[in-house]
Amino acid sequence: QRAILLDCDPGHDDAVAILLAHGNPDIDLLAVTTVFGNQTLAKVTRNALSIATVAGIRGIPFAAGASRPLVREVEHASDIHGESGLDGPSLPEASFELDPRHAVDVIVDTVMSREPGTVTLVATGAMTNLALAVRQRPEIAERVKEVVLMGGGYHVGNWSAVAEFNIAIDPEAAHIVFNAPWPVVMVGLDLTHQALATPEVAADIAAVGTAPARFVGELLEFFGKTYRDVQGFDSPPVHDPCAVAYVIDPSIVQTVKVPIDIELTGTLTLGMTVADFRAPAPDDCTTWAATTLDHGRFWGLVVDALERIGDP
Ligand code: BDR
Ligand code: CA
Repeated sequence: QRAILLDCDPGHDDAVAILLAHGNPDIDLLAVTTVFGNQTLAKVTRNALSIATVAGIRGIPFAAGASRPLVREVEHASDIHGESGLDGPSLPEASFELDPRHAVDVIVDTVMSREPGTVTLVATGAMTNLALAVRQRPEIAERVKEVVLMGGGYHVGNWSAVAEFNIAIDPEAAHIVFNAPWPVVMVGLDLTHQALATPEVAADIAAVGTAPARFVGELLEFFGKTYRDVQGFDSPPVHDPCAVAYVIDPSIVQTVKVPIDIELTGTLTLGMTVADFRAPAPDDCTTWAATTLDHGRFWGLVVDALERIGDP
């Protein structure tokens, strides 16, 4: 089993990432931490607890983290995720309490209390909590197995022409995360735009027939509509679970080793993940970019996780 801590801002696709991490037998989900992003910290944290209730997740800490970026003004994605951050299905009341610790302390405690090289940090929101954690305890960079993040992209942006939302809303935090001495796998838009929830995928999820599968179906219906209206996609790209799928089975998400850094001063390119493909990556390169998704096996993992979760 691969032990992960999931830092997220649920968020429709974050919800699918949580369900995949919980339902997949090869993942040991240690903790879930939240960060502002798709909606306010209060809303995404509430959503995380509601998802845990739907999926029957128990016995692991859920903790809230940063409510704003390090330097910039706070931005949210209500146009894609709605007023609640998880519009579509009705959201159950949370059935357990939030961990009293700050997310940054949960990240540090989780990494420092486990064997070195065993914990993977999966980030599917702004990089703020991870940046604060590695500033608070720089030693975590040597102990973490790797950081697998949904964010960025080497060809396209979505929040601007060249910047992706999770990076663009806190570029300074992303700069810290990409430059810390831990391996970073960037599962960016180049990859996640291949993770389309087509009508066939929706039918496979509906066929599972459980309450959590219906919940995902309702999420994808809303997400599909906003992605159609706002971004012109026929089917919505379900970004965040791609990062979890990479941890489960890297053969589903192909990567290439390439130096990546974050633009912090460009007037048109703020928050761009600049990948330098000019030459073979130097020996000291610690960053990888995801390139190609096996669409069938990816969605197979999501459906399998839902089947295993059943009706909790
Ligand atoms: C990312 O932005 C958020 O809206 C999604 O949850 C995903 O993490 C895609 O750019
Ligand atoms: Ca997200």
